[in-house]
Amino acid sequence: MQVKGLHSGYGKVPILHDVSFHIDERETVAVIGPNGAGKSTLLKTIAGLVKLTSGELYFDGHNITGTSPDQLVRLGIALVPEGGRPFANMSVIDNLRMGAYSKREVLKTGVLDELFEIFPRLKERAKQMARTLSGGERQMLAIARGLVSRPKMIMLDEPSLGLAPNLVDEIYEKICALRNELGLTVLLIEQNTNYALELASRCYVLENGRIVMEGSSAEMSGSEHIKKHYLGL
Ligand SMILES: Nc1ncnc2c1ncn2[C@@H]1O[C@H](COP(=O)(O)OP(=O)(O)OP(=O)(O)O)[C@@H](O)[C@H]1O
Ligand SMILES: [Mg+2]
Repeated sequence: MQVKGLHSGYGKVPILHDVSFHIDERETVAVIGPNGAGKSTLLKTIAGLVKLTSGELYFDGHNITGTSPDQLVRLGIALVPEGGRPFANMSVIDNLRMGAYSKREVLKTGVLDELFEIFPRLKERAKQMARTLSGGERQMLAIARGLVSRPKMIMLDEPSLGLAPNLVDEIYEKICALRNELGLTVLLIEQNTNYALELASRCYVLENGRIVMEGSSAEMSGSEHIKKHYLGL
């Protein structure tokens, strides 16, 4: 995927300024940055949920600038939003069905069975209301819901948010296994810089809506700016 000179925001308020970056096929790239930097806005703009004011987006050889959110899902782009945002009063299985762009498609492909194999805990809780899931289970549900459409690229908005450390480990092991098994391209937003740098091969730093640094995860780990402001060293 390629993002070229992206500007976007809400109404007349600009948030992202001239953001450019790329992710190779099957690569995992992380975007880190402080609260309010525009990380979620970036993912929402790529997913077509926030309108870009200028710039261009390319995915899989197509110019996808201005493409509608449901069409982007069909092209293979999935967003797992911050906090997972399940439909609280719907069961696990109904939440998963909502992740599909067509109900018939889901029934046909047997994707739910596959997902239940990957996430056995969701299978056990298939009929349970989403609001009664634990934080970790809710995040698993959010990731599984993103996978129902069989995306090529998945965008994860802070998958570790609000989880206890042992659950963060579990979620990251899952993401890592999924990525490798399904050959996914991953765009990861993460406050927990250690996890971001471990999973991603490269990383961009977004501050005040601009990309201010980029490099390999190894380079980032060695950077004084990153150590001081993001790793608390
Ligand atoms: N729907 C909205 N309408 C107006 N302003 C918004 C909206 N959503 C976000 N913003 C503003 O856009 C800016 C960037 O928000 P965004 O959610 O992209 O930041 P973030 O980097 O994801 O932060 P965090 O780490 O806290 O999740 C913030 O100043 C925020 O208040
Ligand atoms: Mg955010």
